[in-house]
Amino acid sequence: MEYWLGHSENSSIPMLQFDYEVTMKRKIQFNLNGQSTSMEVPNHRLLLDLLRDEIGLTGTKEGCGTGDCGACTVYLNGKPVNSCLVLSGELDGADIVTIEGLKIGPELHPIQKAFIQDGGAQCGYCTPGMLMMSKALLDENSNPTEEEIRFALSGNLCRCTGYAKIVQAVQDAAAELRAKNL
Ligand code: FES
Ligand code: FES
Repeated sequence: MEYWLGHSENSSIPMLQFDYEVTMKRKIQFNLNGQSTSMEVPNHRLLLDLLRDEIGLTGTKEGCGTGDCGACTVYLNGKPVNSCLVLSGELDGADIVTIEGLKIGPELHPIQKAFIQDGGAQCGYCTPGMLMMSKALLDENSNPTEEEIRFALSGNLCRCTGYAKIVQAVQDAAAELRAKNL
């Protein structure tokens, strides 16, 4: 923490001012897409920025930055979260999966294939978040109704598709996953 003598706006009386050390760092260890990762990060760094700017995993997108659009969805300890709302200081010991970790071995995940096949992605900006949230749904519910799909994806905004193709893709992926018993 730094401090110095300054003046308040409306007074010539010197005041002690503090500049809290916003770059305070801590060493954290976490699992990222199955790989143990250790790094020193500023506590206040957002998980989204950590992934994109420090680690170089740019598949996770920033839309709103305020938890409203779902573009930044990743899994944290098995649950989908908005990575724009998670501070790096909370990540020690965490298990994180991003869109780059969705493939099964070298193969695209059936959900990714279904989005391609059904035109569930147009500009693609929302797609990583949609895919992550769709997988979270299908992990819990292997045969969701249209209403359940629309509800599960209600926090993920798309400006292009009109959602019908996304819903179709999730239904097709669900059928494929059931057929393959995945
Ligand atoms: S960027 Fe995180 S919810 Fe929109
Ligand atoms: S495909 Fe463009 S925002 Fe969804």
